[in-house]
Amino acid sequence: MQAALGETALYPEGAHALRMAISHKWHVAPEQIVLGNGSNDVLELAARTFMQAGDAAVFSQFAFAVYPLATQVTGATPIEVPARNFGNDLDAMLAAVHANPATRMVFLANPNNPTGTFVTGDALKRFIAALPSTVLVVLDEAYGEYLEAADAYDSTAWLSAFPNLLISRTLSKAYGLAGLRIGFGLAHPDVIALMNRVRQPFNVNFLAMVAAVAALADDEFIEESRRVNTAGLKQLKRAFDARGITTIPAYGNFISFEIGESMAVFKHLMHQGVIVRPLAGYGLATHLRVSVGTEAQNARFITALDAARAELKV
Ligand SMILES: Cc1ncc(COP(=O)(O)O)c(C=O)c1O
Repeated sequence: MQAALGETALYPEGAHALRMAISHKWHVAPEQIVLGNGSNDVLELAARTFMQAGDAAVFSQFAFAVYPLATQVTGATPIEVPARNFGNDLDAMLAAVHANPATRMVFLANPNNPTGTFVTGDALKRFIAALPSTVLVVLDEAYGEYLEAADAYDSTAWLSAFPNLLISRTLSKAYGLAGLRIGFGLAHPDVIALMNRVRQPFNVNFLAMVAAVAALADDEFIEESRRVNTAGLKQLKRAFDARGITTIPAYGNFISFEIGESMAVFKHLMHQGVIVRPLAGYGLATHLRVSVGTEAQNARFITALDAARAELKV
């Protein structure tokens, strides 16, 4: 990025290089890639490209908040399907699609945010195969890099079988580049071509693309991200278990836990300089979500939580 600073007076030239880097790493053709200003941009772009008033989109209760928002701005109807164990209930989502012929899209994050739940690659593949081919599945893998080898699956291998599959990825999480805003979508070239017609011409900025090309070559960093995250998840889970605090099984880089008076705990933690995420807006009024940090940061959170619980008697 520092080497590229002198070129910022020009319109961005980096899209080709970034698409080639993604193509190389995910074994897809450059025509199967759309770039986004964060993967949020990809999600919204997909909704704007494929939905309008009269259409509907299906997603799970406790799914990422952007799915209903991206659906609503197009005039389409959001259909929220009750979750099972805080995660995607694939059978119920399939039934909802079949019950609503207006459905044009299904949004599904795996692992899910904010609950952190996970469905296996096998179950997902069966789900996509059972959907009508006229329904676009947006498989949001924002937290995919955090999966351990036993859970990891390669959805790009399904692209040739499912032209109605759009995989969304981001460099905001394990790559640690959230502030630069880079994400991308992978799909059949026809799907990508339509999205490219709706996309702003220069939706990803030059410095972000330069950084992304460098970051995608840095496999060691991703290994380290995963290692620190897995260790942090274990550290936090041990601490919650030791205190009898119920957690939702976590596969991303955060854990959601049940704490009763969640807003009081949230405020207490905030006064101690520790910011967690209240989940009341998602309908989980008794839960908070904490991001995994370094070992020292996790320990600081646990100490602050102990102080909050002692004072608030929760
Ligand atoms: C499930 C999920 N998808 C997508 C995003 C969007 O991330 P970004 O726009 O930074 O790629 C987030 C961010 O929190 C997320 O949790």
